[in-house]
Amino acid sequence: MLRLKRSPVLASKQLKSALDSHGFQVTTYARPQDLLVTRGKDCTLFDDLHNKSYIDFTAGIAVTSLGHSNEGVARVLCEQSKKLIHSSNLYYNPECLELSKKIVDKTKELGGQHDCSKVFLCSTGTEANEAALKFAKKHGSLLGPKKHGIVAFENSFHGRTMGALSVTSNPKYRLPFGDLVPGTSFLNIHDELTSFADYITSKKDEIAGLIVEPVQGEGGVFPVPTEKLIGLKQICAENDVVVIHDEIQCGMGRTGKLWAHAYLPKEAHPDIFTSAKALGNGFPIAATMVNEKVNNALQVGDHGTTYGGNPLGSAVGNYVLEIIGEREFLQDVLNKGEIFKKRLSSLKDRFPEHIKDVRGRGLMIGAEFAEPPKELINRCRGLGLLAITAGKSTVRFVPPLTITEDEINEGLTIFEKAVEDIYN
Ligand SMILES: Cc1ncc(COP(=O)(O)O)c(C=O)c1O
Repeated sequence: MLRLKRSPVLASKQLKSALDSHGFQVTTYARPQDLLVTRGKDCTLFDDLHNKSYIDFTAGIAVTSLGHSNEGVARVLCEQSKKLIHSSNLYYNPECLELSKKIVDKTKELGGQHDCSKVFLCSTGTEANEAALKFAKKHGSLLGPKKHGIVAFENSFHGRTMGALSVTSNPKYRLPFGDLVPGTSFLNIHDELTSFADYITSKKDEIAGLIVEPVQGEGGVFPVPTEKLIGLKQICAENDVVVIHDEIQCGMGRTGKLWAHAYLPKEAHPDIFTSAKALGNGFPIAATMVNEKVNNALQVGDHGTTYGGNPLGSAVGNYVLEIIGEREFLQDVLNKGEIFKKRLSSLKDRFPEHIKDVRGRGLMIGAEFAEPPKELINRCRGLGLLAITAGKSTVRFVPPLTITEDEINEGLTIFEKAVEDIYN
């Protein structure tokens, strides 16, 4: 089942020497030693050193939604880089202005934040969340001297910088780093709304914002029930708490709507939401969207970044959003998600002892196993399929949104084979 590659990009001696020098990288990642990604096209990654190719169900962790080496993205990058790459936020550039307007317009057109008003452009998801947290705190600071706390949820992931890490619950990521930003508390999303209401109301003078992923990604692909998000927004609105939706993984069409919060009625829309990953299809660009209420709390100098809104990234963002922000494209994501769900659910029926749940929306799907699926992921890789885990025991399926039905079926056939190999 191994898929053989086309012609190599670099001589294999050079590739071998590149892989051999992996020891110069800091020890922060656990990566397989038998894989060197040298090329990609659409839903396939190539390893020219080992003469292998892989169906990619990871899309660079929900990033390359238009596929690897997308020709349109490559053309925009090439043309824009010859025109202007960077000019800083000292001056306007047409690409960043176009992108901000397009995000606001598309958001409103496609059922997202109805009062979306302004955009802050930056480079990574973590940075977009940092902006969101600061904006919420700034809003809170105008209402009371102690109103700067943030409520987050267990099982959340919002990034690795000290601010974003403060609202990321996993102790493994947090504990080695000592004191983080004070005033953060974690609630359990499975608790009753009444307990959220009690907590937030009792601390309303200390809580500025609440941050939640509408679909928890790294935590295990858990869509937060609609009623929870509706209730949370109501509780927060009553207590002058700004609601932030982190749509870095679940946004940009991943769930079959432009934004995951577009499944909500408008009164439940967030005050702030963040995007990154798929917005640049691999080029680092991110955005923090706010409504007028939040923007009114901001002043010149409150926040900034050197690279955010650079013409190169913005041009890519414009291109990507133009394609993903089409109703037919989004409907297609939903249809393809159903193929995944159907086949994975049948697999679950065949292996009820081992597969506990299949869940998710659009092309953000999780299959929860009874035990950590490390061996399964390795087995898939050996058979020519790349997949990743989420949480303790879930396999996460986040392929390019442009994946074809044939590729889905080919990849799932490999996945089924790997499950049979291990659990039969
Ligand atoms: C929900 C969520 N928020 C924030 C981040 C951090 O984004 P980045 O790695 O681009 O900084 C991620 C990354 O996986 C994410 O999934």
